[in-house]
Amino acid sequence: MADARWMLYGATGFTGTLIAEEAVRRGHRPVLAGRSPARLAPLAERLGLEMVAVRLDQSEALARAVAAVDLVFCAAGPFVVTAPPMQAACLAAGTSYVDITGELAVFRHTYAQDAAARARGIALVSGAGFDVIPSDCLAAYVAAQVPGATTLETALATHSRTSVGTTRSALGMLGEGSQVRRNGVLCSIPLGTEARKVRFSDGERWCLPVPWGDLETAYRTTGIPNITACLAANKGILTLLRVLGGPACRLLRVGAFARAAHWLAGRLAQGPNEATRRHGRSFLWARAAGPAGEAQAWLETLEAYRFTAVAGVTAVEHLLRDRPVGALSPAQALGADFILSIEDTRRLDAVPA
Ligand SMILES: NC(=O)c1ccc[n+]([C@@H]2O[C@H](COP(=O)([O-])OP(=O)(O)OC[C@H]3O[C@@H](n4cnc5c(N)ncnc54)[C@H](OP(=O)(O)O)[C@@H]3O)[C@@H](O)[C@H]2O)c1
Repeated sequence: MADARWMLYGATGFTGTLIAEEAVRRGHRPVLAGRSPARLAPLAERLGLEMVAVRLDQSEALARAVAAVDLVFCAAGPFVVTAPPMQAACLAAGTSYVDITGELAVFRHTYAQDAAARARGIALVSGAGFDVIPSDCLAAYVAAQVPGATTLETALATHSRTSVGTTRSALGMLGEGSQVRRNGVLCSIPLGTEARKVRFSDGERWCLPVPWGDLETAYRTTGIPNITACLAANKGILTLLRVLGGPACRLLRVGAFARAAHWLAGRLAQGPNEATRRHGRSFLWARAAGPAGEAQAWLETLEAYRFTAVAGVTAVEHLLRDRPVGALSPAQALGADFILSIEDTRRLDAVPA
């Protein structure tokens, strides 16, 4: 592992830069990569790292860049655009791949490459960020306590804002409304419906079902056929979504409105500042239930973007050390207890009523 080389593609983004800085803090020397030499150069110079500028449609140059490393960390999104060409390059080169997508279609794409990944002896791991490492590890933990569980619920609350990239990726998914998994199948439900109260370790919050990565990853990790993934939202947002959620989702399916929403995201969205990243906390809960009984667990961890940088680099360390093979969920690749290796994180089996 000491000699292993890895490349961070999308290093120029808000999250990619946080990952690059965290990597250097932990003594790594990743090759910084992305499509824009003008944006990469100052970052590579500031961090004293090698850089490679290559677009995803430059297949020969991409093949050379990917073949020169043991693992590619893709932080460039939306991943519906970036993951397919990057995964294809990794499969051709025999280079492992990890990304931080939360997009359901991308998880499905990744898992469809399982046989090819096994044949090449590499790992393809999607979702190695806040979406979905903590909830996937928690899902694996509670599911292991309830053999034959038939339902899984997860919920999360984080004190943060969303970056331009996250907002754009979320807009791409919300055109479909919200989703839940029932009897093994993804089903659409109107955004803003099925709200419920969830007790987190720091108190109770209203939450509503969202198309969080768990709908694919926890299904792969646990095989539980009924999954609902919830996000905490304040009462005002819940009411707004109940009234406007359906029409807004339908509008996002119209090209001109989707383009306008992307443009607005570029103007208005802004990732969390350093103080929020440093001091913000995230809270998660999961419950598995079935004929054999039920189990719940809670998690307290870092703010979402700081978590993504810290856990993403820690995941790279594990993947390069353990060399798992196949298209894997984070908990399959890293283990349910991986979450406990992340600083300032604790898992609880009970919380005060
Ligand atoms: N799993 C998680 O918890 C988690 C956490 C944070 C972010 N994310 C996801 O990560 C992605 C990036 O987020 P961000 O906050 O860093 O967004 P951002 O600041 O907008 O950065 C986007 C990055 O992607 C690159 N990129 C976009 N389209 C590309 C393409 N077609 N080819 C090559 N590079 C492309 C951009 O390159 P340029 O600089 O050249 O434009 C930039 O480096 C989003 O999809 C977001 O949802 C996930």
